[in-house]
Amino acid sequence: MNLNLALLQKFERGLDPQHPERSAIPATILGYGEISTVFAIQADGWRDLACKRLPLFDRQAEVEKYRAAYDAYNRLLEEQIGLRLPPHTGACVENRLGRPVFYIIQKQLPAASIGHHALHTLPTPDILALVERVLQELRKVWKFNRAQDRVQVAIDGQISNWALDDPRPVYLDTSTPLFRVEGVEQLDTELFLRSAPSFLVWILRLLFLKDVVARYYDFHRVAVDLVANFYKEQRADLIPEVVQIVNRFFQDQAAALGIQPITEKEVRDYYRDDALVWSLYFSMRKADRFLRLRLLRQTYPYILPDKITR
Ligand SMILES: Nc1ncnc2c1ncn2[C@@H]1O[C@H](COP(=O)(O)OP(=O)(O)O)[C@@H](O)[C@H]1O
Ligand SMILES: [Mg+2]
Repeated sequence: MNLNLALLQKFERGLDPQHPERSAIPATILGYGEISTVFAIQADGWRDLACKRLPLFDRQAEVEKYRAAYDAYNRLLEEQIGLRLPPHTGACVENRLGRPVFYIIQKQLPAASIGHHALHTLPTPDILALVERVLQELRKVWKFNRAQDRVQVAIDGQISNWALDDPRPVYLDTSTPLFRVEGVEQLDTELFLRSAPSFLVWILRLLFLKDVVARYYDFHRVAVDLVANFYKEQRADLIPEVVQIVNRFFQDQAAALGIQPITEKEVRDYYRDDALVWSLYFSMRKADRFLRLRLLRQTYPYILPDKITR
């Protein structure tokens, strides 16, 4: 990718995190994650890209470590496992306070092709076919993991992380490069706690971090998460059929992996807990933003969506 990085630097300097569309160089938001915001920067040469902004770093050395993990993870997925990724690169710029901000830059894919949009536009048989095609991609990860025990790769299979494309879905969400080499996590998972209000960090570390990370190494749990997402996307009506698709897949095409079937109850319970945790977490972050911006008159580096429906 041939990019004008000076423009990205200018974009970051002029970014209004609370109102990105009013920034010096305006941007539209393509998506929100728990830690990143995905922008389309409205400038020549940038409009057809998706820029994922990660404001998590205190020091340049942290960015370099993250970038090494990010690059290695992308290579594993693309070259060793055989997933399709959008063309991508990364770039580090400095924010107004001189702190490093890392951007993942990918080719932008059409909004209508992203999984959660597809859930609202495609006829049911096509949605079920998409789920099956996603499972076929995921299976490659666990085939790789089972074939050797030096490197273990994790993946977040949820539907919003895939773009429908021929011949196979494209995986978008590489900003959390979780993989272990000889049992050692290559990503500094403490980075995830950076965006959390300081009064929550210790409890998140204690209660959730290990469990949340472990989830993405487990095909059964990744499948439960994928199905539970249909609640969040307001397509709970499809869950019984999607559970069937998953279980048929585990029984037939993934038989060699010996994955336990999932149940609707398991999906429901998981969703209830997960939604509760995240909505609580999100309200805490809003309270924290209010505290820092309005009461303490500090800056607030993260970008929060106005409302997340669950
Ligand atoms: N390359 C892309 N093209 C178009 N939209 C994208 C692209 N990458 C991400 N998005 C949008 O942003 C959302 C969040 O991106 P994702 O990579 O999944 O980050 P997160 O880790 O924050 O979930 C996606 O669900 C999608 O809607
Ligand atoms: Mg995602």
